[in-house]
Amino acid sequence: MRWVKIFKSAQEANARLPENKPQLLVVGDQRICLVKHKDHLYAVSNTCTHNGESLNKGQINYAGEVVCPWHGYQFNLQTGREYLERSADLETFPIRVEEDGLYLGL
Ligand code: FES
Repeated sequence: MRWVKIFKSAQEANARLPENKPQLLVVGDQRICLVKHKDHLYAVSNTCTHNGESLNKGQINYAGEVVCPWHGYQFNLQTGREYLERSADLETFPIRVEEDGLYLGL
């Protein structure tokens, strides 16, 4: 696994990421949907497994799932699993906090 530094610190990430507003993060050729939800940071693939919509355009629901804006499929941010298993799981990416920054595992 390759670790990529995405913030200088957890504090910076916390200050720059709005709660429950999915953000697009592009690392090389990978498009990641980054979400701060209840003070946790999650990273999942930005491409909806149903029909390819960009999940950073979606919303976070009461259950902490990212809801695709196109057909409303709901993906768990921790597991990537679609609520009703109507499509494949999203790829999920670990996030690690180190002394010198916050890293995303690809
Ligand atoms: S493209 Fe995401 S639910 Fe259809």
